[in-house]
Amino acid sequence: MSGKYATETLHVEEGGIACAAKILRDGGLVAVPTETVYGLAARADSDAAVAKIYAAKGRPSFNPLIVHVASLAQARALAEFSPVAERLAQHHWPGPLTLVLPRRRAADLSDAVTAGLDTLALRMPSHPVMRALLDAVGLPLAAPSANRSGFISPTSPTHVLASLGGRIDAVLDGGDCTRGLESTIAAVRSDGSVDILRPGPIDLGLTAANAGSIEAPGQLESHYAPGKPVRLMASEVAPDEFWIGFGAIQGDCTLSDSGDLTQAAARLYACLHEGARSDKPRIAIAPVPQTGIGVAINDRLRRAATPPN
Ligand code: TXA
Ligand code: MG
Repeated sequence: MSGKYATETLHVEEGGIACAAKILRDGGLVAVPTETVYGLAARADSDAAVAKIYAAKGRPSFNPLIVHVASLAQARALAEFSPVAERLAQHHWPGPLTLVLPRRRAADLSDAVTAGLDTLALRMPSHPVMRALLDAVGLPLAAPSANRSGFISPTSPTHVLASLGGRIDAVLDGGDCTRGLESTIAAVRSDGSVDILRPGPIDLGLTAANAGSIEAPGQLESHYAPGKPVRLMASEVAPDEFWIGFGAIQGDCTLSDSGDLTQAAARLYACLHEGARSDKPRIAIAPVPQTGIGVAINDRLRRAATPPN
C-alpha cells in the first residue's frame, strides 16, 4: 500500500457502520460493500468529496457516477420518475438495477456526479451492510466501483485494498459480493421506452443498446483489464497462460465446476484478479454460454480482452 491515507478496514461487529457513516458525512472516501461489487462512496452533495472519488480512481471527469439511495423517497427528490421508472423501481429495488432518469434541476447534488449530463443514474442496493450504512449517513452516496479506472472490479475487501489501499480513508468489510457483476443499467426515455446501457444481473428481456455510446461514457471498450493479454473462447491452454475454466473445462481457477452461470458471475472478478496476480504472462478463458447472466459475463470478458489504447 502506498499513498497519503492510512486506509483502515472497518468491521460491522466493531461499530464499523457508524464509523464509516461519520467519515462519509465529514466528506471522506469509504469503499463499501454492495451485492454487485464494492463501491467507492462519497457524499453526493459535496463537490470536494466527489472530486476525491475521481482523484482516487484516476477516473476521467466525463464519466458520471451512480448515486445510491436508502429509499424511493430519497430517489424521487433527485430525479423525475415516470410511471415506467416507478414500476421498474417498485419491482427491482432494492437490487442490482440502476435507472438513468431525468435529473431534477433543484436536486442537492454535486455537478461532478452527472459529469454535466441532464440525466442521473440511481440505484437502491440490497446488501444489508450498505442499506444500514445509507440509513446511518442519511444522505445519497455517489459510488463507482472501487477500483483504479479501467482495471478489474473488486468483489472483496482484499481486491479493494490491492487497488486503492493508501488512496482512500477506509474499506467497510461486508464479505464477498454475492452477485459479483455490476448492476444492469437501464435508461428510461421520456416516451416510456427503456434502453439497456449495460447488461447485468437483472434481465429485463431487452437487448443491450450500442455499448460505448456517448450516453454511457463509462462503457469504454477496454475495461476490467487485468494488465496482461486475455484470450477468449479457449478450449485448450498454452504453458504460459493462466487458464480460467468453466463447466467441464477445469482451469487454474474455475468459474463454476457445475456450469452454473450465477456462480460464474459471482466468481468472475476473483478469477481475473487471481490471473492478474499469477506469474503466468497471459490469461486464457474457457467459453461461457451467451444465455441469461452469461450475456453480462461475456460483455465484461470482451472488455477485459480489449487492449487499452
Ligand atoms: O453495481 C454497480 O452498478 C456498482 C456498484 C458500486 O453500485 N457501480 C458501478 O459504477 O458499477 P461504475 O462507475 O463502475 O459504473 C457506472 C456506469 C458507468 O459506465 C457510467 O458511465 C454510467 O454508469 N453512468 C453513470 N451515470 C450515467 C448517466 N447519467 N447516463 C448514462 N450512463 C451513466
Ligand atoms: Mg466500474
